[in-house]
Amino acid sequence: MNRMGWGSTAFAAMAFAASVALAASGADAIKERRALMKENGEATKAVVGMLKGAPFDLAAVQKALKTYENAAAKMPGLFPADSEKGDTHALPAVWTDTADFDARFKKFGADSAAALTAITDDASFKANMPGVLKNCGGCHEKFRAKDN
Ligand code: HEC
Repeated sequence: MNRMGWGSTAFAAMAFAASVALAASGADAIKERRALMKENGEATKAVVGMLKGAPFDLAAVQKALKTYENAAAKMPGLFPADSEKGDTHALPAVWTDTADFDARFKKFGADSAAALTAITDDASFKANMPGVLKNCGGCHEKFRAKDN
């Protein structure tokens, strides 16, 4: 490794130490989880349009399901204790009923993976997708404030 490399590694380590000292991890976690959920929202728009009669597009459905899988895998790690307060709509239940919260992400990920296999055409899409989308509202009902 050249001198520049060592220098930037040391700088990154210092920057990391500084961010921990400022407890920025909570704010970063909030930003990251909200961005993941925003992606879910965007992906879902196309899917809901198809459920309401827009032409079936398998590639778009698969893209949405992969977006859900990615979010389901990453979300449980994005609720550190210091991210309960701040620019967030997550309810205190996330931290008091964490087992249920995490289990819901597990189910959301598993349902999305199963749908990815099961959905091959418009009929299987209409049969399988509503069940996947129930995960969204069910979780928001208990774990997310409505003023959003
Ligand atoms: C297991 C729980 C859970 C599931 C499943 C879930 N969400 Fe969320 N979602 C949350 C929580 C908690 C927040 C609030 C995050 C925050 O403000 O820190 C949120 C926030 C959001 C937001 C607002 C993002 C923003 O701009 O702040 C959107 C949009 C959203 N979710 C869409 C979806 C969609 C669409 C699905 C299903 C395809 C889904 N969510 C599934 C828990 C969940």
